Amino acid sequence: MRLRRKPWIDAAILDYADFVTPLGGDWSKCAGAWAETFGRTAPLHVEIGVGKGDFLTELAARHPEVNYVGLEAQQGVLYFAARKAAARALSNVRLLVFDAVHLTELFTPGEVDRIYLNFSDPWPKARHAKRRLTSELFLARYAAVLREDGEIHFKTDNMGLFDYSLETMEREGWQLSRVTHDLHALGEADNIMTEYERKFSARGAKIGRVVARPPVGRA
Ligand SMILES: C[S@@+](CC[C@H](N)C(=O)[O-])C[C@H]1O[C@@H](n2cnc3c(N)ncnc32)[C@H](O)[C@@H]1O
Repeated sequence: MRLRRKPWIDAAILDYADFVTPLGGDWSKCAGAWAETFGRTAPLHVEIGVGKGDFLTELAARHPEVNYVGLEAQQGVLYFAARKAAARALSNVRLLVFDAVHLTELFTPGEVDRIYLNFSDPWPKARHAKRRLTSELFLARYAAVLREDGEIHFKTDNMGLFDYSLETMEREGWQLSRVTHDLHALGEADNIMTEYERKFSARGAKIGRVVARPPVGRA
């Protein structure tokens, strides 16, 4: 999902400053201070690649007991997520225009309880593999910020990316559970659909899902 920069969004996103740190905003003091940012100590869950925010805002509305941080590389889509968070007055949501490649600068070791990855870009060419959000490079970043009993929750319709992710996670020592190549067939009542999930499942695509825990005894 690559959108052209829209100048009106760069201005309009500032209306939602209580919810979002826009492009160029200062996030340098966030690491280790998320409890202060939210004004309370609570489990910290992070979504990487929030898109337009349907999933995160619905999740946060259902779980007011959790603090949610949403990261999205593109301001043009995160604006819509910020607007939804503001419309629902979700005080447990903070959004940042942020490239997750710098994740370890945003959170201290063990600060994060859960990471959601939904319909991440597949980057099918081998030379782009390190950009996949489930590459070994990203898994190492997640392991660095997750609690020992923390979790990644990953969903995608792209079975090439899904199988690559399962293989990479297993090879890197992550413990996999709740693996399915057809999530919707399970009829889980608590599944919240993302924008991409709705679009691709309406076209008949099956959705893969895995929950993964970091390697035991990691450095
Ligand atoms: C295919 S879209 C899926 C959006 C949404 N999660 C959904 O399921 O509808 C993937 C999103 O991840 C974002 N993204 C990709 N790599 C990222 C990164 N390194 N850091 C933050 N966001 C990223 C993209 O900008 C894009 O909005």
